[in-house]
Amino acid sequence: MFKRVPGTKDILPSESSLWQKIEEITRNTFRLYNFQEIRTPLIEEESLFNRSLGKATEIVQKQMFIIKNKEDNYCLRPEATASVVRAYIENNIDKTSTFSKFYYIGPMFRLERPQKGRLRQFHHIGCEVIGSSEPALDAEVISLADTLLRDFSISGYKIKINSLGCSLDKKRLGAILQKALKEKLGKLCANCKNRFKGNPLRILDCKNGPCREEIAGLDIRDEHLCQDCKDHFTKVKASLDSLNVSYENSPRLVRGLDYYTGTVFEISHDGLGAQDALGAGGRYNNLVKELGGSDLGAIGFAFGVERLLLVQSPQATVRSNDLVYLISLGEEAKEEGIKILNTLRKNNIAADTDYEGKSLKGAMRLANDLKAKFVLIIGEDELKKGVVTLKNMRSGEQKEIKQDKLIEELKC
Ligand code: HAM
Repeated sequence: MFKRVPGTKDILPSESSLWQKIEEITRNTFRLYNFQEIRTPLIEEESLFNRSLGKATEIVQKQMFIIKNKEDNYCLRPEATASVVRAYIENNIDKTSTFSKFYYIGPMFRLERPQKGRLRQFHHIGCEVIGSSEPALDAEVISLADTLLRDFSISGYKIKINSLGCSLDKKRLGAILQKALKEKLGKLCANCKNRFKGNPLRILDCKNGPCREEIAGLDIRDEHLCQDCKDHFTKVKASLDSLNVSYENSPRLVRGLDYYTGTVFEISHDGLGAQDALGAGGRYNNLVKELGGSDLGAIGFAFGVERLLLVQSPQATVRSNDLVYLISLGEEAKEEGIKILNTLRKNNIAADTDYEGKSLKGAMRLANDLKAKFVLIIGEDELKKGVVTLKNMRSGEQKEIKQDKLIEELKC
């Protein structure tokens, strides 16, 4: 028997309605914020991610699904920010509108060790806004992430924010960390020892116990920020306050991807366990230019859909079902039943029937399992009278309806 690749999931019909619901809410909320959907390919050139995420990042070093060809190296996309920026530049979108708001829903691929909430194929709901460095935009994007979570009926999450500052500020933060950790280097894990020289910011992200202890002891504030970046971050926080978004200032928050500058944020949930990030994002003001486009500020975030589903409250999982289940008794009624089914569907009413030869009792039980809203029964009696028996499965009410009045009755 074949098995699915470790770290991948089959989304079976019992679960797919939850996914549809999440997607429906996503599309509606993004529409309210005037975002438009973008769909980029699942494969990209590997070098796109080396360049944007950074060669020293964990994703590029260890987690890329590489597809080697004779001439090129492609990969399965590990995230979509770089792809969206690539598409933005390649399709000259900046020539028609310098300010663009994109959202996306789709699979991402990372060669990780699978565990709860950590998959090799997982799904992002994300967005990217390109063309502005306004602090009010940072607040709108963070508040949009907050709104989406509420719309998904998720509570109990924490929004942590920080500012890494501009490129010079990031260098300064690196130097501050190197100075503070120099004496403690011996206590850090092998990975952090490697990070110390080339990528000291990533030490703050280490999940290793002893490293976490050393990090917790560091006095890190906002000394690395230049005045412009300080002012920007102050305005972001003021806008978040006026939008009533609750957040925690988290000076140790850095992100695992090199493209971030300025505001960064992460949304965590205790219900997730070790992999506690529901989503994350931030500004990447240099990326558009670095990938060959204009000098434009940009910001975005992404949620992991599988993680959203792990913490969603059960009430969100109850899906209303307007299915009409038709039970026809006898050969003649069956023929008439097929015509009725056809009419219902043409009138935009979801309808189904039994193709397994079930008894009336068995078919009723199935209708119940399917959570059908109505059952329609048609047998010899009904045929003679030109009616159907309509049972409302929620109220239990049962009545005979003339066939030509059926659609009207079901629609009201
Ligand atoms: P990221 O933090 O790498 O950011 O991923 C965002 C979210 O995807 C995580 O918070 C987590 O919920 C989910 N996720 C990541 N890896 C896995 C995995 N292996 N299995 C399940 N879920 C996972 C980004 O990818 C950025 N592109 C976000 C962004 C958009 N920044 C700016 N714009």
